[in-house]
Amino acid sequence: MCGIVGYIGENQAAPILLEGLSKLEYRGYDSAGIAIFNEGHIDVAKAKGRLKVLVDKTNNGESVPGTMGIGHTRWATHGEPSDENAHPHVSMSGRFAVVHNGIIENYISLKKRLTEKGFEFISETDTEVIAHLFEYYYKGDIMEAVIKVINRVEGSYALGVLCSDYPDSFVAVRKASPLIVGLGDNENFIASDVTAILKHTRDIYYLEDNEIVVLKKDGVKVYNTDREEVKKEKFTVDWDVSAAEKGGYEHFMMKEIEEQPKALRDTISPRIKDGKVVLDDISLTADDIKNINKIYIAACGSAYHVGVVGKYVIEKMCRIPVEVQVASEFRYCDPIIGENDLVIVISQSGETADTLAALKEAKSRGARVMSIVNVVGSAIANASDDVIYTWAGPEIAVATTKAYSTQLAVIYLIAAYMAEKLGRLTDKEYADFIAEIEALPEKVEEILKNKKEVQYLASKFYNCHSIFFIGRNLDYAVSLEGSLKLKEISYIHSEAYAAGELKHGTISLIEDGTLVVALATGRELFDKTVSNVKEVKARGAVVMGVTTKEHDHMGDVADHVIKIPSAHEMLLPSLSVIPLQLFGYYVASNKGCDIDKPRNLAKSVTVE
Ligand code: G6P
Repeated sequence: MCGIVGYIGENQAAPILLEGLSKLEYRGYDSAGIAIFNEGHIDVAKAKGRLKVLVDKTNNGESVPGTMGIGHTRWATHGEPSDENAHPHVSMSGRFAVVHNGIIENYISLKKRLTEKGFEFISETDTEVIAHLFEYYYKGDIMEAVIKVINRVEGSYALGVLCSDYPDSFVAVRKASPLIVGLGDNENFIASDVTAILKHTRDIYYLEDNEIVVLKKDGVKVYNTDREEVKKEKFTVDWDVSAAEKGGYEHFMMKEIEEQPKALRDTISPRIKDGKVVLDDISLTADDIKNINKIYIAACGSAYHVGVVGKYVIEKMCRIPVEVQVASEFRYCDPIIGENDLVIVISQSGETADTLAALKEAKSRGARVMSIVNVVGSAIANASDDVIYTWAGPEIAVATTKAYSTQLAVIYLIAAYMAEKLGRLTDKEYADFIAEIEALPEKVEEILKNKKEVQYLASKFYNCHSIFFIGRNLDYAVSLEGSLKLKEISYIHSEAYAAGELKHGTISLIEDGTLVVALATGRELFDKTVSNVKEVKARGAVVMGVTTKEHDHMGDVADHVIKIPSAHEMLLPSLSVIPLQLFGYYVASNKGCDIDKPRNLAKSVTVE
């Protein structure tokens, strides 16, 4: 949560920072602020509310002149959204201004000590202690102060720090929270994410924990905590700038829904060679796979829902027991795992605090960790034994779509890879499965061509108070995602239920006109789900069925039917989720919701 940027160069800093923050708003958007160095002192402008409020307040940055500055967009953790709690935070003398992404876990004891020493706090944030600590430790050498501060604080941080004694440079440092350095021509940047600086440069440094960066207009130096210079490798981002722009779409979410065929191709194609899954990225051998005792999948939100699909698929195809758990539970449930267990963690951002903690928990118990991650060089990717990247490109909308789809594709590749190594599939079964994986992008394209149908249904149902999603097995796993998609962006109450379980209580909520979205895509359980559809119909529900083209009977029981192409049973989630994403989107759009930035949420959840 929270996004930070920093700039030093020949241009006015404020407009560049504000533009960069607009690309980071997905990380938090309840307040924003900038601090600009100008003629020996630091000017700060901050405002509660969306970035637009700050843009207007500063006349798009014009009222805060200067060519060096830092900026922040916030998702409140310590203290409500307010002007006072917004970053940057300034030390008492005004010498230091700090932006921070992360959590300072020992801030209460630090605050107490600093207060005893006469420091006065004006915010409720944990970050303000950092500004005061700089002041406390600073004896004329900023590097010395940085080292003392990071030795003193516990928790996670990406920090940008301005000091009014240094007119030609500013410093940054990170631990556990993301931070990259952008290398420009007579200008340099820091940012939580490359999208914020892509317009200016594609050359970046990834930073390791506790590497300290000193940025000047004409150069960047990175040091370790022994003050030795660290030689960094320069990476060049190969995304097109348009990848992080709306490109004519009203919302990032719809753009990202439409990008799914490409994202799937980019994720799948390089990993299938001559009809075989090739996972060059991982070092898991056939023997390792044969020795796996149990697989755990830990993730949060939609990534967890991918894990639920993963359980069904891997167990069915590989006959290895799989347990899937939300990461925030996994870390505290004293998991029974050891050396012969594989833990798969799934994360778009690669920085979700609970998922990272689950990974660490697993490693501390000797398990091997494989991660499925979208952001290269992220904390989760760095901490894993093996990483398989989803090549979804930047995902900006808070509600995930293309990251979910590519994570699912990677699960299929892993399942096929393992099943083959375990000798669980005949050559024909394996070849058919691979061919079906390769056909997914085209089938998703076909569904997207008919999105008007879903749009029409959304226009009928957007006033509902409550919507239920039901399905069995894989259809249940997709119901979880469909329900989350709908509720997070449209604010309509929704629940997903295993179709057979509804009658054990929840069916009492069904009354005349309640919308039930019933997924019945699989062959084996189709009739069973149809029986459950009849049960809710008998109690007044209106049913929207989602099924494949091969099932004609859905129309006999459901009021509305959305058909998806047929596919290998295990792969149907990749197709059935698409109309559900579209349904959530169009319902939210009909309600006039802020689709890309739903209330109370942030895309990147770096707090427990
Ligand atoms: C947030 C996002 C979800 C995402 C979840 C896990 O809640 O809104 O879309 O699934 O975090 O994030 P991760 O980056 O770990 O996939």
